[in-house]
Amino acid sequence: MNRYTVTSALPYANGPLHIGHIAGAYLPADIFVRYLRMKGADVAYICGSDEHGAAITLQAKKEGIHPKDIIDKYHELNKQTFQQFLISFDIYHRTSEAIHYETASDYFKTLYDKGVFEEKTTEQYYDEAYNQFLADRYIKGTCPKCNNENAYGDQCEKCGSTLSPLELINPVSTLSGKTPVLKTTTHWYLPLQNDTNWLKNYINEGTVNGKTHHQAKAWKKNVLGQCNSWLNDGLRARAITRDLDWGIPVPLPEAAGKVLYVWLDAPIGYISATKQWALDNGKNWKDYWQDENTKLYHFIGKDNIVFHTIIFPALLKYHGDYILPENVPANEFMNLEGDKMSTSRQWSVRLDEYLKKYPNKVDEMRYVLASNFPETKDSEFTWKNYQDTINNELVATFGNFVNRVLVLTNKYYDGVVPQIDESIQVNSGERLGDLQNYETIIQSISNKVNNYGALIEQFKFREALSQLIDIASYGNSFLQFNEPWKLVKTDAVKVESIMNIAIKITTVLAGICEPYLPATSQKMKALLNVDNLVFNFEDLESAIKEVVSVGHTINKASILFEKIEDDMINKELHNLKAASNQTGKEMITLKETIQYDDFAKLDFRIGTITAAEKVPKADKLLQLQVDMGFETRTIVSGIAQHFEPNDIIGQQVTVVVNLAPRKLRGVESQGMILMAEDENGLLVFQAPAATVANGSLVS
Ligand code: 2FM
Ligand code: ZN
Repeated sequence: MNRYTVTSALPYANGPLHIGHIAGAYLPADIFVRYLRMKGADVAYICGSDEHGAAITLQAKKEGIHPKDIIDKYHELNKQTFQQFLISFDIYHRTSEAIHYETASDYFKTLYDKGVFEEKTTEQYYDEAYNQFLADRYIKGTCPKCNNENAYGDQCEKCGSTLSPLELINPVSTLSGKTPVLKTTTHWYLPLQNDTNWLKNYINEGTVNGKTHHQAKAWKKNVLGQCNSWLNDGLRARAITRDLDWGIPVPLPEAAGKVLYVWLDAPIGYISATKQWALDNGKNWKDYWQDENTKLYHFIGKDNIVFHTIIFPALLKYHGDYILPENVPANEFMNLEGDKMSTSRQWSVRLDEYLKKYPNKVDEMRYVLASNFPETKDSEFTWKNYQDTINNELVATFGNFVNRVLVLTNKYYDGVVPQIDESIQVNSGERLGDLQNYETIIQSISNKVNNYGALIEQFKFREALSQLIDIASYGNSFLQFNEPWKLVKTDAVKVESIMNIAIKITTVLAGICEPYLPATSQKMKALLNVDNLVFNFEDLESAIKEVVSVGHTINKASILFEKIEDDMINKELHNLKAASNQTGKEMITLKETIQYDDFAKLDFRIGTITAAEKVPKADKLLQLQVDMGFETRTIVSGIAQHFEPNDIIGQQVTVVVNLAPRKLRGVESQGMILMAEDENGLLVFQAPAATVANGSLVS
């Protein structure tokens, strides 16, 4: 039996899923896996939460909570969302599980013991206010390739370049907002500079050690393009450890305070998840990762291509026991109503929210996304297209055909499958007047089904879906051209054959639509009263003959898909715009209106900081002496994480001087300093534009 290990990118457990994620790495994989299972293959479909990495720690810092609070919440939400959307993972695991820590540590240790890594001590950026080295998303600056001022230390999201912090122009810490200093640190590097040649052969020729590994031409052009741009630039050694406190500790005594780089940790998550699944299901995990007959596929979005085609294969090859990916069919991105999807800007369709509102429209969304997959280039989701696609294809074509077959069979034969005369000539579904017998018609359906399967195997999911709808369309025309509702009055025997064929086409659809439309497939099987239909692609004819044999009784018709009304679309468009406007508004939500007299009570004065020191045992507080002109005040301010005491001596500040004194950590604070917070959460003193005398009134 053919064995497959299929993975979808482990999503970071720091936010909800939107339809762009689903169209990238999850729905294509689910379609592929469901198809393989239908063909009787042995498949392990693996996914789970990626629970380490800077995206999560930075968010936790921003919200003042622990990373665990974030990952627990979103792991559960995302797991449930996937389940409701009928993404059929065999396991949805977590990288915070002990089995994963053990697997990732052992993996590192194996490569370390083999002497694979280079140990290097280099200078790296360091944030002195936070006592932390700044890798990846902890550092921002200008991209040297496209001048985007907001490029991260690992990647520029504008031009897609992979960067290292030292390449950034004007680097700034995303923690303190300050310019970092350089400090030495030791890390372990994967010597990718030695892997260029074999990776070139593996990726471009499909050969490893001179032997064919896979069909190179089966890899998608968008994937090959990115790989070759990396390979042609020349690969460099990459650090696979980091100075951070959230992640899997580097399993070496000399590596205290260091963790495995999340891009080593996450793909190994596929392996540890498989181990857990194997333990739970009496399987041997090695069959799925270490047997040359097993085919390994990684479904991802375009931002993860190099990790799955270069870095992970290198890690697998250095280990020596593992198979390499057969293919990495990455998708590009899906945009929404003319703009890039983004959860933080609330310009997205959150899948959990969609499912809450429309729990019975799972297949509708699966269908619209699949018909619009960003397979070769970025694509676009619009609500209008959602409506048109469902109404024209699912309602008017697919649903209409199935409904007519069920209604007529019940009307003419009380739901009992009628006789067929295999020699009788009827109109085919291709053209009016194209007379064919049963065998020829079934042959052309069978060709379409084979084509559909072949397209799925080539990751051409959009084309495969067109082929599926083409079969329904054929069925519709078949009824239209033969007009059983008219013929029944003159040639009832012929109508029996026509309806028998129509029922068979319906059965074929019920079987083969399952990868795209699992809920519909189930519903159709129930309507056809063939719940246990196991569809066999190889022997289509006997499969359908067996399950809907003459005399078999089907159930009463019921509608498969409801028409999408303008109302729903208008509401969705309205909500989308309202939510995204609100993101802008939230930052400027105003406090309640006060009267002038309230304002007049406040006494703002300018002062100058003359001394500053940390308040013992209080991370956030600085004790300041502020020269107010008329006197010197002691003020305790919550700015210790943003400023070094020595850096702010001489800074002019605006102080509320008539606020009742308050004791903070035993020190009486005699006023309050005004600060502004920028969009990155960084604090800025509110000082006069030019120096003024201390004690000056601000009004
Ligand atoms: O980009 C992401 O969301 C990453 N968490 C993907 C990781 S894929 C894999 F390696 F697990
Ligand atoms: Zn750039």
